[in-house]
Order: sequence, then C-alpha cells, then structure tokens
Amino acid sequence: MSKPELSFIYRFEPGHDPAAPPLLLLHGTGGDENDLLDLGRLIAPGSALLSPRGKILEGGMPRFFRRLAEGIFDEADVIRRANELADFVAEAQALHGLAAPVAVGFSNGANIAAAVLALRPDALAGAVLLRAMVPLSVMPPVDLAGKGVLLLTGTQDPIIPADNAARLAGDLNRAGATVDHKILPAGHGLSQADVDIAKTWINRRAYAPIEGSTS
Ligand code: MLT
Repeated sequence: MSKPELSFIYRFEPGHDPAAPPLLLLHGTGGDENDLLDLGRLIAPGSALLSPRGKILEGGMPRFFRRLAEGIFDEADVIRRANELADFVAEAQALHGLAAPVAVGFSNGANIAAAVLALRPDALAGAVLLRAMVPLSVMPPVDLAGKGVLLLTGTQDPIIPADNAARLAGDLNRAGATVDHKILPAGHGLSQADVDIAKTWINRRAYAPIEGSTS
C-alpha cells in the first residue's frame, strides 16, 4: 500500500527507543527534508525523525515562511505557515503513532519552530532552536509551562543580532518555557559544540522529562 499523502513533502524514520522523543527536523533556507536527518541521528540516535520540506520558494530555495528581506518577516505568512506546520505535525502523529515531537530547527527552521511554540504550543513538546530570531514582533499570550527550549546562538553570526536572540529567549521564558540559552563562539553555521550541546540536552530531556517537574 502506498504512503498516504500528507500536507507537506517529508521524510520519516521510525524510532527504536521508546524513551527518546520524536524529533521534528526543520531545515534552513535552501535546505530540504533530507538536510537534518544526519543531525537528528547524531543528537538522538533512538528517536523517530519527522522532516518536512518548507513550502515557500525564495529564488528556488525552500523555506518555511515568506520574508520581505533578510531578517524582516511577512508576519501574516509566519502565522499562516506555523498553523499549517502544526496541522502537519498532527497528521503525521496520527499516521505514525507519535507523541508530540521536540522541534530541532536551524535558522529559518528554528524561526518557524519558535512561531509554532508561540501559536500552537500543543504541537511541540519542546524545541532546539539553532540560530533563531524573534519570528513575531509581538509574542502572543501563550502558556509554555512544561516546555523545554534550548537556544544556541553564535557570537559571530552576521544574520542574527545578539539582542534579537536574547529577546526571543526572554519572550519564551516569560511565557513559562524552561529556556537554556547558550552563546557559542560560532557564526551562523553549526559547529561541533552545537551538536554536542543539543545531544546532551535531548538526552537529559528524554530520560528526565521536564513535564511534571517543579524546577
Ligand atoms: C529567516 O529568514 O528565517 C532568517 O533570516 C534566517 C534565514 O533563513 O536566513
């Protein structure tokens, strides 16, 4: 029987460790559904991997929402696409029998993950945001209690101003998320430190989930 069509083109790899959270892998501008599979396998070897391709094309490069210029987002489209992505997550959860995933997003993928947290928090158990910035100029009222967020920023990142990443950490924190914001000596690209820190964070989260904890 052929695989039912879901609302995004995507790759899925089943997990083999029931304690490991499923990961929702969200690529950066110009990437696709194949890009972050290796990263997912590295940071969470037993996790199911769900990896959609962004539906927006910018000069032929897939993205998860439209932007007006670098770092200037079409916020109506951010809202629309975050809702579409959350709907896709629900479809994929039903089809593949998955718990709510932890998003692992890079750059544009991290930005849409932050928007999903803000707009459709039930879609995600938490998020690893690699080089993220504020996706919506006004954070909607949302309760992120029980959600863990790892935010990794580069000191030499030419795309993401340090104060913007700090603002995102503050917004998520005020909404009740448990935010771990680390600033690395890196640029916009990922470094080995990103991989190591993300792996440790996911592993700690998988075996001592934040849900229900009081810290
Ligand atoms: C975005 O457009 O989401 C950010 O500027 C990051 C990028 O994709 O370059």
